[in-house]
Amino acid sequence: MSTSQRLLGKACIVTGGSSGIGAATVRRFVNEGAEVLIADRNIKDAETLARELGESVIAMSCDVRREAEVKAVAEAAMQRWGRIDVLVNNAGAELNRPYDTTTVDEWDMVLDTDLKGPWLFCKHVVPHMVNAGSGSVINVSSLNGLVGFPLSTAYGSAKGGLIVFTKDMAIELAQSGVRFNCVCPGVIETPMMERWTDLMPDKADAQRMLRGVMPIGRMGTAEEVAGSIFFFASDDSTLCQGAVLSVDGGFVAQ
Ligand SMILES: NC(=O)c1ccc[n+]([C@@H]2O[C@H](COP(=O)([O-])OP(=O)(O)OC[C@H]3O[C@@H](n4cnc5c(N)ncnc54)[C@H](O)[C@@H]3O)[C@@H](O)[C@H]2O)c1
Repeated sequence: MSTSQRLLGKACIVTGGSSGIGAATVRRFVNEGAEVLIADRNIKDAETLARELGESVIAMSCDVRREAEVKAVAEAAMQRWGRIDVLVNNAGAELNRPYDTTTVDEWDMVLDTDLKGPWLFCKHVVPHMVNAGSGSVINVSSLNGLVGFPLSTAYGSAKGGLIVFTKDMAIELAQSGVRFNCVCPGVIETPMMERWTDLMPDKADAQRMLRGVMPIGRMGTAEEVAGSIFFFASDDSTLCQGAVLSVDGGFVAQ
């Protein structure tokens, strides 16, 4: 466990911070000395994690698809800290469905969660960072945003869009002092992956298959992805603007 305290006193928002990659990020940030607001629609798990980690973490109920709720999180963070140093747009929803049986509601749910949500958070948080002349936004995309997969049109479109959105923000605000970067995890052992294997006819077989997807021959851990998010949150990445970092055990290197 790191004790470098490289985020000492930093005010951070992590969306979807109650589970998987988001929860690992919250734990890593707190270990590095940060204050964290978890914005998650699963308020029960968010509050449980906040209680466990102590007074440097607070939880707020927020559906990232709803602008009023996103705005309320930004306002609460400003009220508490007077500034926001780091925003991690991590909340995400998956869908494995053929393009021609995906419903409009399903398409909207995935695009709204995985792409509109990060934009709404940027809309309400980034102006405060611009006023302060500094800040770091980290968007959690996916290898699905970089390469094509079957049954992935909605999820892949949202995650691919999030990569371009990251670059657009990075260029539009290049001289503002605010940095925008993106991580693209590969196959990571989290509740999301668990839900995916639950849908398969043979769960053990699906897990075996997933272990073989990444060239390193295993799935990644949420903590390994949190490490790359921490890098972009820290001052070690001050020259990174619009970077897209694959955290995928070599998948897109093939
Ligand atoms: N697990 C993987 O293999 C993998 C791979 C690539 C990318 N990702 C991405 O990483 C991110 C985290 O995924 P995870 O695997 O930790 O999943 P997870 O299901 O464990 O966590 C997702 C979190 O997002 C929250 N959330 C979902 N919809 C929300 C909404 N509308 N508003 C607020 N919160 C919402 C959930 O409550 C949960 O806390 C997602 O963006 C996902 O697409 C995951």
